[in-house]
Amino acid sequence: MNIPLKSLESPAGDIVSPGLEGVVVAETVLSHVDGAAGRLILRGHELEQLAGWSYEAVLSLLWRDLAAENLDEAEIRARLGAARMAAFERMTAALPALQGLTQVEALRLLLSLLPDTETERHHLVAVASVPVFAAAIARRSRGLDPVRPDARLGSAADFLRMLHGVEQGADKVRALDTYLVTVADHGLNASTFATRVIASTQAGLFSSVIGGLCALKGPLHGGAPGPVLDMLDSIGAEDNIQPWLSAALDRGERLMGFGHRIYRVRDPRADALKRAVAGLRDTGGRIAFAETVEREALALLAERKPLRPLQTNVEFYTALVLEAVGFPRESFTNVFAAGRMAGWTAHVLEQDRVGRLIRPQSRYVGPMPV
Ligand code: ACO
Repeated sequence: MNIPLKSLESPAGDIVSPGLEGVVVAETVLSHVDGAAGRLILRGHELEQLAGWSYEAVLSLLWRDLAAENLDEAEIRARLGAARMAAFERMTAALPALQGLTQVEALRLLLSLLPDTETERHHLVAVASVPVFAAAIARRSRGLDPVRPDARLGSAADFLRMLHGVEQGADKVRALDTYLVTVADHGLNASTFATRVIASTQAGLFSSVIGGLCALKGPLHGGAPGPVLDMLDSIGAEDNIQPWLSAALDRGERLMGFGHRIYRVRDPRADALKRAVAGLRDTGGRIAFAETVEREALALLAERKPLRPLQTNVEFYTALVLEAVGFPRESFTNVFAAGRMAGWTAHVLEQDRVGRLIRPQSRYVGPMPV
């Protein structure tokens, strides 16, 4: 076991690591994050290779030999289409209950409709449900009715169709597919860990992935991309970049879209997403501005935090991709959940095979009875 940097040793000799840095609690065949080299490997494939695959192909890769049956890309696409139709029917009656909730809270509520007793193909149901629910929630926030899925389409194409009400161009579908693949799995991040802890109690797949969503929604994890756009808008113009960023750091604020627990070099997902957004029409001005903000932010972070290498993380270019394909920023975390559902479900299936309850210990530092 690596000894974590900020670990504390108790008089009894046990190691306390408050953020679990460097603590290895699971073996996985699913993904490997090499924070020093800036590499992400999913079941033997570099992220750069996978960025051209469809989301369904990556699901087939992640679920292989873990799910009850191995399905290829085309079979998964067909089954997800059918499951989206079922998810739509299930959702309709519950929509009035979403009143007053944020978009991610609304997704949490709709996922809670899925019964843990339904265990057949539950991984497919979970993956299929998120785009249906997330698109309906985003439309509802604009006062629009939900759009029925089209079972013939792939996940990314139908997600955009259900959001906009009409099919979108191939370039936007490709960009969203790249996004879903890029965030599909990423080692034992906070939400995946939460998911595996719940799975280890045998609570059921839907309960496990709802736990993952709850962990994802925080701004230190999957809640950052909306605030990235808020930051770009608030900066507004090139001559305000330096003063705005300096003032934020003076106030002790964190710059959204920068820094990572594992990566000490650039997050490889940032470049995959930058390429995806660069392939879209009419994004040139926004990207050029974002790149200038990124450059100045990295220079300032290097100056202010010389001991801590802080680089661009996945959330910075996530914000630009999702904005370019038309998602409202309040829905970004739900779109992240749509992609990460691949990893969460695969980790539940893997954890089920391990079969060991995850139960660490705490060190008591309170008073003893007298
Ligand atoms: N802006 C400014 N300073 C930062 C940032 C940032 N984005 N990130 C870390 N730091 C600083 C901290 O203030 C701290 O400085 P100090 O030692 O002087 O107090 C130092 O770097 C180390 O910070 P930690 O909190 O120990 O780093 P940790 O590994 O816990 O943080 C995290 C990782 C949470 C992602 C952090 O970098 C952050 O808050 N980033 C902004 C939010 C964000 O982009 N979240 C998305 C992450 S990607 C994902 O989850 C999908």
